[in-house]
Amino acid sequence: MEAANSLLDAAAVGDLVLLDPLTEESLLHTLQERFHRGDIYTYIGNVVISVNPYRSLPIYTPEKVQEYHNCNFFAVKPHIYAIADDAYRSLRDRDRDQCILITGESGAGKTEASKLVMSYVAAVCSKGEEVDKVKEQLLQSNPVLEAFGNAKTVRNDNSSRFGKYMDVEFDFKGEPLGGVISNYLLEKSRIVRHVKGERNFHIFYQLLAGGSVKQLQHLKLRQDCRHYSYLNRESSGLPGMDDAANFHATQDAMRIIGFSPAEVMALLEVTAVVLKLGNVQLSSSYQASGMEACSIAEPQELQEICELIGLDPSRLERALCSRTVKARDEMVLTTLSVPQGYYGRDALAKNIYSRLFDWLVNRINASIQVKPGKQRKVMGVLDIYGFEIFQDNSFEQFIINYCNEKLQQIFILMTLKEEQEEYVREGIQWTPVEFFDNSIICNLIENSKCGILAMLDEECLRPGVVNEDTFLTKLNQLFATHKHYESKETQNARRIMDASLPPQCFRIHHYAGKVTYNVMGFIEKNNDLLFRDLSQAMWAAQHALLRSLFPEGDPQKVSLKLPPTAGFQFKASVATLMKNLYSKNPNYIRCIKPNETKTAMLFTPELVLAQIRYLGLMENVRVRRAGYAFRQLYGPFLERYKMLSPQTWPRWAGSDRDGAEVLLAELAFPPEELAFGHTKIFIRSPRTLFDLERQRQERVVQLATLIQKMFRGWRCRMHYQRMRKSQIIISAWFRGHMQKNKYKQMKRSALIIQAHVRGWKVRRAYRRYFRAGASARLANFIYRRLVQKFLVSLGRNLPSLVVTDRTWPPAPYKFLADANQELRSIFYHWKCKKYREQLTPQRRALLQAKLCASELFKDKKTLYSKSLQQPFQGEYLGLTQNPKYQKLHAVAKDKLVMADTVRKVNRASGKTVPRLLLLTTEHLVLADPKAAQPKTVLSLGDIRSVSVTRFSDGFLALHLKETSTGGAKGDFLLVSDHLIELITRLHQTLMDTTAQALPLHITDQFSTRFQKGDVAVTVVESAKVDSNVPVCKKRGSHKMEVLVH
Ligand SMILES: Nc1ncnc2c1ncn2[C@@H]1O[C@H](COP(=O)(O)OP(=O)(O)O)[C@@H](O)[C@H]1O
Ligand SMILES: [Mg+2]
Repeated sequence: MEAANSLLDAAAVGDLVLLDPLTEESLLHTLQERFHRGDIYTYIGNVVISVNPYRSLPIYTPEKVQEYHNCNFFAVKPHIYAIADDAYRSLRDRDRDQCILITGESGAGKTEASKLVMSYVAAVCSKGEEVDKVKEQLLQSNPVLEAFGNAKTVRNDNSSRFGKYMDVEFDFKGEPLGGVISNYLLEKSRIVRHVKGERNFHIFYQLLAGGSVKQLQHLKLRQDCRHYSYLNRESSGLPGMDDAANFHATQDAMRIIGFSPAEVMALLEVTAVVLKLGNVQLSSSYQASGMEACSIAEPQELQEICELIGLDPSRLERALCSRTVKARDEMVLTTLSVPQGYYGRDALAKNIYSRLFDWLVNRINASIQVKPGKQRKVMGVLDIYGFEIFQDNSFEQFIINYCNEKLQQIFILMTLKEEQEEYVREGIQWTPVEFFDNSIICNLIENSKCGILAMLDEECLRPGVVNEDTFLTKLNQLFATHKHYESKETQNARRIMDASLPPQCFRIHHYAGKVTYNVMGFIEKNNDLLFRDLSQAMWAAQHALLRSLFPEGDPQKVSLKLPPTAGFQFKASVATLMKNLYSKNPNYIRCIKPNETKTAMLFTPELVLAQIRYLGLMENVRVRRAGYAFRQLYGPFLERYKMLSPQTWPRWAGSDRDGAEVLLAELAFPPEELAFGHTKIFIRSPRTLFDLERQRQERVVQLATLIQKMFRGWRCRMHYQRMRKSQIIISAWFRGHMQKNKYKQMKRSALIIQAHVRGWKVRRAYRRYFRAGASARLANFIYRRLVQKFLVSLGRNLPSLVVTDRTWPPAPYKFLADANQELRSIFYHWKCKKYREQLTPQRRALLQAKLCASELFKDKKTLYSKSLQQPFQGEYLGLTQNPKYQKLHAVAKDKLVMADTVRKVNRASGKTVPRLLLLTTEHLVLADPKAAQPKTVLSLGDIRSVSVTRFSDGFLALHLKETSTGGAKGDFLLVSDHLIELITRLHQTLMDTTAQALPLHITDQFSTRFQKGDVAVTVVESAKVDSNVPVCKKRGSHKMEVLVH
């Protein structure tokens, strides 16, 4: 609660309402104390007092903005942001239009304050492209208006020389939509004249200092200020103000607002024209009639002006130096004197500039205005020129001070008088507080019958000699006894000696002090006349902007009616402004100027005390202390806070007042905090209100949560119910669908079963009663038919009777395969039998021998396959034919089985010798071929066994039984060309005679028995030897090798 404590700080309370004791001294002391601490803001309730520090303070940072955003007004350090926030929230949340009234003397910080408020509101309201653009445009209107409407005065280097009221418009969400700017009475006398030490409007200096060479050339301007008489021909720079940079800022701002480059150029052209008009010099000349007349002294400047605005120089010259006067329905051109000429020139410059300024405001408004039709809330910020007291005060000061007087009146009415009256009206117990009511002064000035402004207008319109003297005399008569009016004459009447009041003046006791006004120039300024010739000349120019500023110059629209006076216009616009302000909720910022010298942190107590007095701060505090901080009609109050009590929420049945009472009773605030008026509830301290507001906010959050909760619950329930319904529908359909499918399937199955059963039953019955066994017979028939067909076709297609042909047609049906095979074999056997039967006995014997050979040798000896082709001839020698073999023939006669030539292997050397071999049914005879004498005769019974090789040679070993007679020499080794036949016949013969098979060894190694012992014979395969002729080689006494191929 650091901030709250700062409000209650004993030495320097933040809210003067808490001041104790309440005296002027303590109030002044508090302000001074706070000022020295750097706390320039102080409250009186919700009125902010701001003391100008004249130096930049670190309290306007974005962090500060955040700190004050949605803050509790009385819980934070006093700050202008707090009041801006309060106003903005009240606008957004309570839907109340707001106005922020910033008052104070010139240089007290009003313009700065208004900018701070605007920038704060811009910073806290929501963001977005569109919104940012609007904000930027609204903020950028400031530099433009300041360039054209502000000037340095003795009191303020950047003094606003016009009044400004800006309505910022928001939508229901509090987002800025746009705005409207109204301007009041630009101090145009400054264009042509200003006090030494002051300056003309900033724009002139900015343009000369910051305009590019090209721009200045185009505008026909020189950079040097001293060249221009309206700029007072003195050095113009201001410390801390960079005119050139400001000019760029102004141009940027215009661009952002939406000025086109052409518009900016036109604007600068007109500005240049005003500046140059000041340099148009007039000189006196004498006409032929001897009358004094004026003429242009040096045509150069006039020439340039006319080039800029597209006008004939002679036309402007004529308008400046002469005047058309209407005399008896006749227009007469009269020449002007030099002072008259200058008067006309200056009036033209002033008019052009002030109209240009109005155009500028309208142009800005065109950019920032809100499209019609949108509902909006308004926050008005009023920054009007402050109360001014100069050495020499003229019509402008009179008007300015009148305006301030009106603002003070609003303040008094709203905060003091109205408040007190309201207490009385509402029947609240109340001790009235004395305060100064300035309506008497306002009345003195603005009374439409006998106010000073009315008198002035009367003087201006009156025919005859019109001057300020008659005007002053009239005032003196009317207000001779007025408490707030003084002049030399009234003083004299009261016998008061006052050297400070010169004769040509009157003095008004304003709420803020006495101001002495010099009446000189009042009438002229009030009339604000511009010779018609000049406005017509301007209208005739080709420059579109300038032309549009002088619509009355159009000869078609000549009106004889005098335009309303400046005073009248101002009074009317002030009245509109007041009406506007009254309709809004006011927020006050009262600016105080701590010293006259613009010195940083200097506090001049006397000066501040005077302001405290005239601002009525003491009374303000008193009323505030006695009164109630907040009031509201029972209805809206109950509506806003009814949610704080279960009795009033959600609806209260009784009257609003009863509701409010019940509600507040329940919240148990101290009784002195509340007062119940006839129609309104009054709450004494802001703290209570904030407490109420805080509770409401908490409750609103709870209620929002409740609504959210209910809504979410409802939504979920609905959703659930819909889902449930849908689920039921879907499952019903699905189940139905399933059952239907199942039923269909069952039905189909039942039908199939039924059909089968029926079929079966019928077939059973059918079988019993009709054609029983028909199928078997049918099958049998078909079977037999097939067999028949098969056999017939077989019979037709029998294969040839060649025994080697083993082909046979395949079975046409599988069931006939076995039979077919059987038939095939039968047929084959039959075919063979047939073949055998037609053979001759010789052929048969031969074939038998072949068969036997096959049994003995097939797949055992290579030679066999070669022997297949050779028929067994048996008799190779030709025993019968050759007489040489007579003897042998005799031996073998009748019993000869085979006769051939063989080679006998010498048992000792292995060499072979030819021998004749005869095989008979009983013997085997070897004979010498030359002598044809048998050498060896072996009985077949002596042959033990025969050994042959596996190869294709004709080698054989004839093993003899040991006991045999012929075996004395041992086994015989022979080589025969017909080995197969030889052995086969030997075998057959043995079989025939002894019924014993010949023991035959087909081997590679065997042993033979020779006379000298056993010899191991090894058959060796060798490529060297001839295929049929084996070579025997003796290897030692017991080994022999037979090389075969
Ligand atoms: N809050 C402030 N902080 C710092 N300087 C300020 C502040 N308010 C005013 N000033 C200074 O005072 C000068 C005059 O203020 P301004 O607002 O122009 O006065 P007014 O509009 O009342 O005539 C400004 O130029 C500025 O230097
Ligand atoms: Mg100002």
